Amino acid sequence: MKKYTFPKNFMFGGAAASSQYEGAYDQDKKSLSVADYKIYNPNLNRSDTNHNWLEVSYEEYNDIKNNNKAVFPFRWGIDFYNNYEEDFKLFKQVGINTFRTSISWSRIIPKSDGVVNTKAITHYKKIFDCAKKNNIKLVLTLCHYDYPIWLLEEYNGFLNKEAINKFLEYAKVVLTEFDEYTNYWIGFNEINLTLHSSYTGAGFLIKKNDDNRLEKLYNAVHNQFVAQALCVKLAKEINKNNMMGSMNAAAQTYPYSSNPLDSLANLKSSQINNWFFYEVIANGQYPQYMLNYFIKNNIKLQNTNDEINILKNNTVDYITFSYYSSTLNKCKSYTNNDILIESGLSNPHLNSTEWGWNIDPIGLRIFMNELYYRYKKPLMIVENGIGVDEKWDYNKNILNDIYRIEYLKDHLTNMLLAINEDGVNCIGYTIWTAIDLISMSSKEMSKRYGLIYVDLNDYGIGSGERKIKESGKWFKKVADSNGEELWK
Ligand code: BG6
Repeated sequence: MKKYTFPKNFMFGGAAASSQYEGAYDQDKKSLSVADYKIYNPNLNRSDTNHNWLEVSYEEYNDIKNNNKAVFPFRWGIDFYNNYEEDFKLFKQVGINTFRTSISWSRIIPKSDGVVNTKAITHYKKIFDCAKKNNIKLVLTLCHYDYPIWLLEEYNGFLNKEAINKFLEYAKVVLTEFDEYTNYWIGFNEINLTLHSSYTGAGFLIKKNDDNRLEKLYNAVHNQFVAQALCVKLAKEINKNNMMGSMNAAAQTYPYSSNPLDSLANLKSSQINNWFFYEVIANGQYPQYMLNYFIKNNIKLQNTNDEINILKNNTVDYITFSYYSSTLNKCKSYTNNDILIESGLSNPHLNSTEWGWNIDPIGLRIFMNELYYRYKKPLMIVENGIGVDEKWDYNKNILNDIYRIEYLKDHLTNMLLAINEDGVNCIGYTIWTAIDLISMSSKEMSKRYGLIYVDLNDYGIGSGERKIKESGKWFKKVADSNGEELWK
């Protein structure tokens, strides 16, 4: 067995997102974001994979706004905003050479008037200088599930084309002000999640029984595509060395059985939920299967000729994605050439987490191959990790997260096989997460992903103290050995 190592200049590190770890929701003139209105539910059923964890409907949003007893975990996060110096030192201790994080739009531009918050700019510069001081490269996402509340309330988010202008106004500030800190940028986090949640994915509200739900979702996605493409253009104008990417959640799927109808179901489902998104950002056009799907489902896209050219001429420089798990697609019925698909099914060959996420390291290798050979653009895995409810053992002063080491080892070795045996060009990997933070879907602090433990509970109570888990020590060995440690 060959012991492959990381390619030269490989970006290896950790990830996080502003709304999930910064906290300080009322500091330095920040205004609220959609994440700040998400509430923690102590009675949630963790294994309920049918529940739409990310959505907040029009009706629910109005209830939340009048609820002054609710627990809003994203408002306090883990207070990285004030702890960044200590946190960067710890990142260094767990072997991180690259940190993927996001900037908070509602900090930079707190109101719809477009006035820039200089306090936030100054503070982010301090944070990024600290990364530099610790020799940590940055990959910066412009919007990671935290649309400003003003964008939602005054424009209804990306359902409104005006959001494109607002996003570019913000992007220009960020790309100019933080130009010296990185060349690696990502426009939006997981655009394909907009299909599952208008609120989290695109910052707008839909009523529970809206008849035009699908049409609204696809129009918002289209507006995000246009904003993303214009952002590619803008990034190059500001600095020709900028690499602008866009991110999707990898929807790795398999047919439920060897029945060709299950393969057809898998093909159709992955076109719509997965490949279509890469086609637009990497190839610059809507694939014909999608245009046919729109006609069939009576979806009218507000798509101008100008926008078609913008998409075509401004594709991403590299492709970033998150990878956590895989699912199965099954043909439920097939009548008059019409297929009904059952998606999201569990795989009997795989173990899964407490939240029902299948663990599939080989799926990562398959997905990297499929993605790279379709578009031949460099890949970066910007999220991959396992969420576990775990506790620090204060008697032994340790958190022996052996399951995380196993998870990472299996995924990283498959990544190295994709690179070295299959010829995939992958330039980086950042684990989700460098440090424990609030879970986006379940809003729990106790769904922990980090290499570094943070002593806080679901209500934000605790000392906030940070401690390195066993996985953090192991991750450092992997980094120092340039990957050789993975084969032990
Ligand atoms: C990704 C998101 O989809 O998954 C992150 O970009 C999120 O924001 C991560 O935290 C893990 O999901 P969750 O819901 O367990 O936090």
